[in-house]
Amino acid sequence: MLNKFSVLVLVVMITVLAISFNACTYDVAAPNYCFQEEVLPIIVSKCAYTGCHDGSSQDEDVQDLSTYNNIMKFVTPGKPFQSELYTEIHSGEMPPEDKSQLDKLQKDIIKNWIASGAPNSSNCNACDTNYNYANRIQPLMDKWCVSCHNSTTAGAGYDLSNYNGVKQCIIDGRFLGSIQQSAGYSPMPKASGSLSTCDQTAIQKWIQAGYPNN
Ligand code: HEC
Repeated sequence: MLNKFSVLVLVVMITVLAISFNACTYDVAAPNYCFQEEVLPIIVSKCAYTGCHDGSSQDEDVQDLSTYNNIMKFVTPGKPFQSELYTEIHSGEMPPEDKSQLDKLQKDIIKNWIASGAPNSSNCNACDTNYNYANRIQPLMDKWCVSCHNSTTAGAGYDLSNYNGVKQCIIDGRFLGSIQQSAGYSPMPKASGSLSTCDQTAIQKWIQAGYPNN
């Protein structure tokens, strides 16, 4: 029989399930690693060094793993557990016992890179110098500021959820100084670190360009 109590229990269970499912999907969406700067150096230091998979071996069972194209012969993009590159490492088959092993983070980097489609990516952490308001500046506000600066809660009177609010803050002369955390300003985002130098630079350039609403 479905009484009030069992309905309540059901609702709680569904909520808990929904939350943990969310946590899972978040986990899967974990960092995308860059092939050239993060993945290849691990493969070179653990597999593709002299005498092993560096392409100079006379033994045709010892594959060349020193380049993207050769590595991809052992990778199924999106599927780490169908990729020999990962399964050999994961099962402990490779590197051979007496050789330097990969630690957990290094294994995870290779796994995540394959899961994210195994692109031949490089220069992934380069600064995005674009300073367009709609796709660069406001998203930074949304991420770092709007939780405390919105239409209902406006820290120091500033609503940073829209262009006019941001503009007013700039005109008052308090915006850049607080983001750059200069002396005489209250450092922002309040109590949660600071924007990256790259993000600060984008904001500064946008202001210098006359903070266009573009
Ligand atoms: C955790 C809440 C919180 C976050 C996040 C936050 N602020 Fe604030 N902010 C406040 C409060 C509260 C004040 C008023 C008290 C103060 O100045 O410290 C304030 C004040 C300010 C001021 C006036 C500072 C001054 O020295 O006159 C500016 C400008 C500002 N915030 C901008 C921002 C920007 C830009 C961000 C995002 C990068 C941000 N804030 C993130 C809560 C927050």
